Amino acid sequence: MDGNGRWARAKNLPRSEGHNQGTKTARAIVEESRRLNIRHLTLYAFSRENWTRPKEEVSFLFDLLTRFLKGELKSLIKQDIRLNILGDISDLPLTARKVIEHACSKTKSNRSMTLNLALNYSGRWEIVRACRLILEQGLSANEITEEKFSDYLCTAGQPDPDLIIRTSGELRISNYLLYQSAYSEFYFTRTLWPDFTPQELHLALEDYASRQRRLGGTDPK
Ligand code: FPP
Repeated sequence: MDGNGRWARAKNLPRSEGHNQGTKTARAIVEESRRLNIRHLTLYAFSRENWTRPKEEVSFLFDLLTRFLKGELKSLIKQDIRLNILGDISDLPLTARKVIEHACSKTKSNRSMTLNLALNYSGRWEIVRACRLILEQGLSANEITEEKFSDYLCTAGQPDPDLIIRTSGELRISNYLLYQSAYSEFYFTRTLWPDFTPQELHLALEDYASRQRRLGGTDPK
């Protein structure tokens, strides 16, 4: 969800306004994804590197997230969406953590869509954490396969992402789902996240649908 700050700067507004607008986009994209029957949607909301931002911005982001989840819980339940967190929320402010845990627990039986929020998440951290868990559980070297390894990632039990969308014109993966994105398709757009619309989500999906996914194999005959 990149470009909130630049969106605000272009309008001479404080960065917080960009993040406010970003949550409106998030709500619209979640609703449209659910309507389109997308089974898994992940929003990269806060990386482990984002802690280096000014303290006021970090605390604003967690307040905003808390308000967002409080405000959306009813709607998530109504849409049969399960909220799931990728990342380590134990470092988050207590109020945010409580609201997150409450929302996850209230939606845990929902089945139509899983909404993953990547929070205090980074791909390298996740891979190292998986290695630690595997060692702690005493698995032997020959038990560790690619599939088994996936069971120790935050996305255990979920399919790898088919499509990764990055907004704001940056052409980087920025430590996002590094293991899972091995064969993902990418859609890069210059649109800043607050301006990203359901219509552009449709464009991204049409673009995706036109691609040939060979997954390392040859062209299908
Ligand atoms: C990237 O824009 C955005 C973020 C780091 C924060 C996104 C998080 C929220 C909007 C909080 C609410 C969470 C949800 C799930 C709705 P940027 O600040 O890096 O923009 P810039 O690169 O233009 O400065």
